Amino acid sequence: MSNYHIKGLEEYFNVYRKSVRYPEKFWEEVAEEHFVWRKKWDKVLDWNFEKPEVRWFEGAKLNITENCIDRHLLTNGEKTAILFEPNNPEDEAEHISYNQLSERVNAFANVLKSQGVGKGDRVCIYLPMIPELAISLLACARIGAIHSVVFAGFSSSALAMRINDSECKVLVTSDGSYRGAKTIDLKGIVDEALENTPSISSVLVVKRIESQINMEAGRDHWLQPLLDNASNKCEAETMDAEDPLFILYTSGSTGMPKGMVHSTAGYMVNTAYTFKNVFQYRNDDVFWCTADIGWITGHSYIVYGPLANGATTVMFEGVPSYPDFGRFWEIVEKHKVNQFYTAPTAIRALAKEKLDYVEKYDLSSLKVLGSVGEPINEEAWHWYNDNVGKKKSPIVDTWWQTETGAIMISPIPFSTPTKPTYATLPMPGIQPALMDEEGKEIEGNQVDGRLCIKFPWPSMARTIWGNHKRYKETYFSAYEGKYFTGDGALRDEVGYYRITGRVDDVIIVSGHNLGTAPIEDAVNEHPAVAESAIVGFPHDIKGNALYGYVILKETGEGRDQNNLRKEINQIITEHIGPIAKLDKIQFTSGLPKTRSGKIMRRILRKIASNDTSNLGDTSTLLNPEIVEEIMKEVL
Ligand code: WT7
Repeated sequence: MSNYHIKGLEEYFNVYRKSVRYPEKFWEEVAEEHFVWRKKWDKVLDWNFEKPEVRWFEGAKLNITENCIDRHLLTNGEKTAILFEPNNPEDEAEHISYNQLSERVNAFANVLKSQGVGKGDRVCIYLPMIPELAISLLACARIGAIHSVVFAGFSSSALAMRINDSECKVLVTSDGSYRGAKTIDLKGIVDEALENTPSISSVLVVKRIESQINMEAGRDHWLQPLLDNASNKCEAETMDAEDPLFILYTSGSTGMPKGMVHSTAGYMVNTAYTFKNVFQYRNDDVFWCTADIGWITGHSYIVYGPLANGATTVMFEGVPSYPDFGRFWEIVEKHKVNQFYTAPTAIRALAKEKLDYVEKYDLSSLKVLGSVGEPINEEAWHWYNDNVGKKKSPIVDTWWQTETGAIMISPIPFSTPTKPTYATLPMPGIQPALMDEEGKEIEGNQVDGRLCIKFPWPSMARTIWGNHKRYKETYFSAYEGKYFTGDGALRDEVGYYRITGRVDDVIIVSGHNLGTAPIEDAVNEHPAVAESAIVGFPHDIKGNALYGYVILKETGEGRDQNNLRKEINQIITEHIGPIAKLDKIQFTSGLPKTRSGKIMRRILRKIASNDTSNLGDTSTLLNPEIVEEIMKEVL
């Protein structure tokens, strides 16, 4: 029996039981079986959830790029590592072999060095989905620099905030990007951000759309000439198991996003292990995750997990609707994709279109279908299963988070019987717990509660950059001795988990995690706005959409409401990005508040969702009459 690769339900249960009884032994065997180490660990695990402090494979030395690249060169150098599919289907796809990836990563690493980047320095990466994005992550890892990828849909102030929080030295970007029929002026956004980012000493610019851009002498450098002059050999830096590999920001309950810090060895072992098992990847398979590398899904399942398994991983620059809604399926046929991993919001958007877009293509290569990012509703699940998987490819509904680094709860395809809307069973090494309101663990089945994890796993984030206190408060304070996920979940009669959604002020819109507070902060920047509250409401395609209740100052009263709505969304776009725009904005004279001044979001949520039959007790409110007013004017 191999510890690394599970085949069959009985084996899953055996491995799972072992991973709970002897977690250290379990992970040690996985780590020994599949990876190359410069030095083995002295201790598998050290942990304390009170502090909290977690260390995996302490004392081990490694470089993750040797595991993701170098070791495949001897046996598989000519195999395609990254298969790049450009935005325009008429442009040729690029097959980057492991040999070529090695050369390109090393050359890039040398360029970073020439810009003064060393071990522990932070590099911000703000790029579209082009090969240089994956390559720049690996180049940082090669020399021990910490990458901080910022999704290229974020605005200049969101970018600046993230650069400043972790004091990045170098920024990697491109002149612009393609998005379907549009182009986006990325460098323009960068230039605005750089007005307020004193830590950045140089900017490396990839030429992608050949647009006219501003290049500031001494600061901005075209990447290609530097690469042309760089050696394609670069010795990998020796890293400690616990050295940070990257920072990735995620929204929280305050305006400042949380810079989740991931470690090197634990992250590597856990992402590689889950990639292998959740997708049942076999040597010649072509794997495609449609996420953007700007999110954790792309970090773990486009870059690190697949490459650590010597896989072929597809990177797609475009969007599912360009040139038409058949694009995903065209790519599946063209590259004979075997595992396809996407988000429910994309499935719902495609399910709305003619079936012809799917039926036109030969999808017989598909073996496993994945879903991630939010609960997948039953209708979308069946559409995916029937029309894409033709009822032959199991759907893995994978639950996890930026903070968890790797998939936590998911079926193992061909082993775990799937059940629509259920993420089913925990991965080996993962010990979930459901908690009640009093903070006690709920035992048994057919129960629901708040989802916690009660034992450390290797890829858990170790801290929030520069703010360990916030890390402790956010994840380890709600339930003593446990990691709190922020999600609610239920466990059915056989022990399968179904994630029911966030129980905090985070709203998942089109699979993107958005905190209400930063959006409210942006709305309140409008000179005519006095106060605002934002809640989610159900949306056919996006899962949730945003509903804003806005109180105007006197100066705003009497102004054209549609113009105000446009201006408010414009400010949101500038502060956060277009993904956070409000679908509906209702102007109101007040917000329902408790006597201590807290906005009763529960009531606002119900009204926005058109679910006003049971608003609960509103008599304890400071201003119960406002509820009537809001209900009368609801959009
Ligand atoms: C939140 C984490 C890590 C993947 C990308 C999102 C929700 C994620 C599922 C799922 C139900 C899911 C949770 C979680 N979520 N996957 N399969 N079923 N909900 O990462 O931005 O950190 O968001 O996404 O609410 O807490 P993220």
